[in-house]
Amino acid sequence: MSLLIKNIKSLIQITGSAKKCGKEMKKLDVLENAFLFLKDEKIEAFGKMENIPHFKADNEIDAIGRFVFPSYIDTHTHIVFPQSREKEFELKIKGATYEEIAAAGGGILNSAKMLKQATEEELVASAMKRINEVVKLGTGAIEIKSGYGLSMEGELKMLRVIKKIKKISPIPVKATFLGAHAVPPEYKNDRSKYIDIIVNEMLTVIEKEKLAEYIDIFIEKGFYSLEDGKRVIEAGKKHGLKPKIHVDQMNELGGVQLGVKNNAVSVDHLENIGEEGITALKNSKTIATLLPSCSFYLNMKFPPARKLIDEGLAVSIASDYNPGSSPSGNLNFSMSLACIKMKMMPEEVINAVTINAAHALELENEMGSIAKGKLANLFITKPISSIACIPYSFGNNFVDTVILKGKVYKEI
Ligand code: NIG
Ligand code: FE
Repeated sequence: MSLLIKNIKSLIQITGSAKKCGKEMKKLDVLENAFLFLKDEKIEAFGKMENIPHFKADNEIDAIGRFVFPSYIDTHTHIVFPQSREKEFELKIKGATYEEIAAAGGGILNSAKMLKQATEEELVASAMKRINEVVKLGTGAIEIKSGYGLSMEGELKMLRVIKKIKKISPIPVKATFLGAHAVPPEYKNDRSKYIDIIVNEMLTVIEKEKLAEYIDIFIEKGFYSLEDGKRVIEAGKKHGLKPKIHVDQMNELGGVQLGVKNNAVSVDHLENIGEEGITALKNSKTIATLLPSCSFYLNMKFPPARKLIDEGLAVSIASDYNPGSSPSGNLNFSMSLACIKMKMMPEEVINAVTINAAHALELENEMGSIAKGKLANLFITKPISSIACIPYSFGNNFVDTVILKGKVYKEI
């Protein structure tokens, strides 16, 4: 199968596979008036229209007036969940805080309660619906966390659901084990006993059944301490999982430094990162992943993206799609928020959701840019005047045609 896309107004992100740090994030390599040739699921060739060779293509698309982007990569989601939580939304509107909702048995624990009732089939079906929804918005690879099981049985159920999704999903999926998401009520007064189960029991099965690539923990007051983080991360590493952790969301507890020390692939949230965290990140390969739609929905502080970039770091942006703090996986909207609320420039947000995001999910050799041999997951925009139009016109969807594995995507 081959597909030729002709007369592309601008082919975006024709960079190699290196991540973009600091000032480089403002640079976006593009090719005006271009063609792109896809063959056998991969990018085969691209160049200027004036130099187009003769291709024998099975299909052709004329992209006049349109931009072509590599698919976005969403590196932080919790899209396997039983039900939405609009009740908490209403409490929140009336003034309850995230911590108050959690302390009253809402929040993550509420989803955990509902997860017990849901069958694996139901969980697969609802998550697949969400995947289809975000694919149409430009997402071409996704990370999914467990973390609403909070017991041996529940966590394994979630991870097995994610494994099934990997098999049927139209886009690449990576799994993260987040057994330490909230403290289960039965271990409220002795969470170390629950961590014992994570460390001594869950991880053994996860390794045996190859259920996850990454290990996560929510290091936050009222959830898990830095010491807990150390235990869980070290145990995860022993079982072949790389750290990718929730840190500094509400309080700066040293999680960034712990992540960096353990070669975390990314440290995520960072609303309250301080100087020490920034210094640690500077000397590391760890990507700083920011989740602006979570700050927006919770009406809380946004992460200091400008400072992180100005200090020379590589920033990526993800949706955090989950029922409690970001009930949307629309990365176009996250990009708008990153510009408007975090003062990132349009080029910076595009780098943040493509090549830098690819690094945050270890997909940089397969995705994240338009390069020969990479997976042909990309999208063609509606006719628009400039790339800035995407974050500028917040709430609009400019993704017109989605192409996955070299073929026009039709909803399954
Ligand atoms: O990333 N911070 C912890 N976990 C999620 C919230 C999950 C939930 O409320 O269901 C987050 O924001
Ligand atoms: Fe999260």
